[in-house]
Amino acid sequence: MKLIISKHNLGLWAASYICARWNKRTKEPFVLGLPTGGTVEDMYAALCGLVKNGKMSFKDIVTFNMDEYVGLPPEHDQSYHYYMKHNLFDHVDAQPQNVHILNGMASDLNAECQAYEAAIKQAGGIDLFLGGVGRNGHLAFNEPGSAFTSRTRVMELTPSTRKANSRFFGGDENKVPAKALTVGIGTVLDAQELLFLASGTSKADAVAYLAHGEISENWPITALRTHPRATLLVDPEAASALAGTVKEQYQQALASQPDKDVILTL
Ligand code: GLP
Repeated sequence: MKLIISKHNLGLWAASYICARWNKRTKEPFVLGLPTGGTVEDMYAALCGLVKNGKMSFKDIVTFNMDEYVGLPPEHDQSYHYYMKHNLFDHVDAQPQNVHILNGMASDLNAECQAYEAAIKQAGGIDLFLGGVGRNGHLAFNEPGSAFTSRTRVMELTPSTRKANSRFFGGDENKVPAKALTVGIGTVLDAQELLFLASGTSKADAVAYLAHGEISENWPITALRTHPRATLLVDPEAASALAGTVKEQYQQALASQPDKDVILTL
């Protein structure tokens, strides 16, 4: 996999990459896996700009979001339905029938998860899965210990994730739902290509573990290393805990071309 450390705006970087991949699409529909979270807000703003300027269209793009809280209705301002509507879908030309977000209000959550897997298959699989990274290395809502073969399912959130996400719930971790629906790590790994983003020092441990640690289900982020076309794009703060030879390679690359992205192979 590639670890790219960039001083440029990660959101702009990712949006330009999505646009380039969409322009080079080899099959219809082009299918995107989409995340939520603070890290990717700039990416959505940049994608809206690209669509507004006629550089990209969502008309024929099919999307699948990674996850959703259980028990939050779509109009709740912390639901991922709400996030996607306000950050992307209100501003682009996506067709409603092409947009898929797990329904955390479904009466039968397991059936909802199975139907989601079937819908991904029916769309021909995901071409490019975008994602963020949790502070504890979680991917989507796959908490530490999730099998790399896991599929879409109900997940109990860890205290650490509820604490991290409480910043969106007025600082009260008890207001963060205890459960979520999430695509599995196996669902993510089935995509043709992965582009994950991590920014800020709060992600530095997870990035360092990815670079130096063993591939382990205790660190879901390390699943990226098992995929043939995975990239983790990080800012210098998220790269600040790198050590050993990876750190040396990073510093050497920076010293020779300080303004360029550093691309490391892990
Ligand atoms: C949540 C989401 C993840 C996301 C993570 C990081 O837990 N379920 O998909 O990657 O938060 O979010 P942020 O970018 O806000 O740090």
